[in-house]
Amino acid sequence: MSSSWSSTRPSRDTSSWTTTVRIENVHSILPKTTVWTNSYWDEFVSLPPVLPLGPVALLGLGAGTAAHLMLKFWPWLQLVGWEIDPLIIELSRQYFGMSDLEKPTESGGSLSVHIGDALSLSATVEGGFAGIVVDLFCDGKIIPQLQEVETWLQIAKKLMPGGRIMVNCGGADVGESLTSPWVQNPTIKALCSAFPGQLNWKRLSEKESVNYVALTGPLPDLDEWSASVPSELSTKVKQWVPCELL
Ligand SMILES: C[S@@+](CC[C@H](N)C(=O)[O-])C[C@H]1O[C@@H](n2cnc3c(N)ncnc32)[C@H](O)[C@@H]1O
Repeated sequence: MSSSWSSTRPSRDTSSWTTTVRIENVHSILPKTTVWTNSYWDEFVSLPPVLPLGPVALLGLGAGTAAHLMLKFWPWLQLVGWEIDPLIIELSRQYFGMSDLEKPTESGGSLSVHIGDALSLSATVEGGFAGIVVDLFCDGKIIPQLQEVETWLQIAKKLMPGGRIMVNCGGADVGESLTSPWVQNPTIKALCSAFPGQLNWKRLSEKESVNYVALTGPLPDLDEWSASVPSELSTKVKQWVPCELL
């Protein structure tokens, strides 16, 4: 993902089904006829049912695809987003409905927007987050800090007891085949070392985005989890497996 816009406006896909905020790579999309993206953003909707009550951070807010989805299904959520690029926020408020997310819903949830480095010590809240969604990319690649164990230990300090982190880990290393294991993804490797015995992963299907996603903490009870998410996700949450260090 690039941190500078290639034009002064987000490009708009004029097809009937989506608005895409594009810089050099796709950052965020807003489907017009369905709320689902058929990509990794949908996975984040499954996070709230396995969290304690409390605020949820979005590190790498982008134009707010995940925020739109999460508030649609869990309108009581207190979302706290960090985005390093002020222009993305400005344009997203203007063209992508982010301003609406900043107003409280009828259930009292909302998005609070912070412009700055999501990895800074100040990107936190008193009492810690119940959940942290990490989606930090630059120039189309996951930011390199996320391949370091220490970064994950620092992020975990921002959680309240029982809190969890869900991560978009991007794709696999070049040359990897679709049947290769998680070890092909350097971010999952770092996460697995940071949280031994406390990391779960899955890889999205080819027709979605072939992204790896990771979830910290014990593997949730998959039947309970499946029953608590929107029906479109009930099969998908059953694909999570614990990560064993090879
Ligand atoms: C894949 S996009 C995020 C998409 C977003 N989660 C959504 O739902 O629309 C990655 C974002 O991470 C932001 N980013 C990269 N490094 C960052 C950092 N250190 N702190 C905050 N944001 C950062 C980029 O500017 C970019 O907007």
